[in-house]
Amino acid sequence: MDTRNSPIGIFDSGIGGLTVANAVVRLLPQEQIIYFGDTAHMPYGDKSADAIRYYSLRIAKFLLEQKCKLIVVACNSASSAAYEVLLDFFEHRTLFVNVVDPLVEEVVRSGHQHVGVIATKTTVNSGIYASRLRDKVPGMQVHSLATPLLAPMIEEGFVHDAISRSVLDTYLGDPRLEGIEALLLACTHYPLIRKEIETWYDQKVRILDSTDVVAHAVKKRLEEADILRTDPAPPHRFYVSDYTPSFEATTRQFYGQEIHLEHLGLWN
Ligand code: DGL
Repeated sequence: MDTRNSPIGIFDSGIGGLTVANAVVRLLPQEQIIYFGDTAHMPYGDKSADAIRYYSLRIAKFLLEQKCKLIVVACNSASSAAYEVLLDFFEHRTLFVNVVDPLVEEVVRSGHQHVGVIATKTTVNSGIYASRLRDKVPGMQVHSLATPLLAPMIEEGFVHDAISRSVLDTYLGDPRLEGIEALLLACTHYPLIRKEIETWYDQKVRILDSTDVVAHAVKKRLEEADILRTDPAPPHRFYVSDYTPSFEATTRQFYGQEIHLEHLGLWN
C-alpha cells in the first residue's frame, strides 16, 4: 500500500480534539482524517496515567489497523501520560505527533521567560510543560495551574457569559499566574475561549494554543517523510466509543460545523 495515500489518525478523550482536527484539515485539505474520540472514558483529565496509557494504546492499535501514516495525540492529558509508551510500542510502525512539543517549540521561539500553563489535573500533575520548557530554556519561569472546570464549562456551552467570566476571574486571577508574559492553553477545549481569555488580559499577555502549531508540525513530519497525499481523499471518518446525540450536536462548537459521528465499540 502507498503510504502517501493513507489517512492521518487523530485521537482525543472525546470531541475536544476536533479543534486540532479542524486545524489539520484546514492546513492539509488534501488529506483524509480518521478521528477517534474516546467518549466512553472522557474526561481523561482526572484519570490515572496508567488508565490513559491503556486507553491510548488500544486506540493507537485501532488507528494502525486503519493504516494511519501518522497519529496525532490530540489530547493534552494523553500526550502527557501516554506519548512515550506509544512511541515504545508503535514508533516503528507509524509517525506520532503530540500536542505538547509543538507548543513548547512555539514558546521557545517567542522568547518569553515567564510563562503560565492552564490544563487538566493530569497534564499539570505530569509537570510535562515545565520540564520540557526548562530543558530548552534553563531558568524559564513556568507556572502551571489545573483548571478542571473549564472543559465541562465549555462543553456545556458556558462561554462568553457571566458564568465563564466568573470562572475565569477565579482561575486567571490566581496569584500563581501573576506576572506572566504568555499563557499556554494546554487543553483541547480552551481554544474556544481564547478570545475571552485575551480580553480578560486586555491583550497584555500572549495567548498560545495547540491547534495551528500542531497542524504545522503534522505537515512538517509528512513533508520530511515525503508522504503528503497525492490522490483525492475519501471522506473523513469520525468515530466515538460512546454515542449520544448531544455529542454530535457539540461537534459544531469544536469543528465549526456539525459532523456525523459513528459509534465504534472499541471496549465491547
Ligand atoms: N482532551 C483533554 C485534554 O486536552 C480535555 C478533556 C478531558 O479531560 O478529557 O487534556
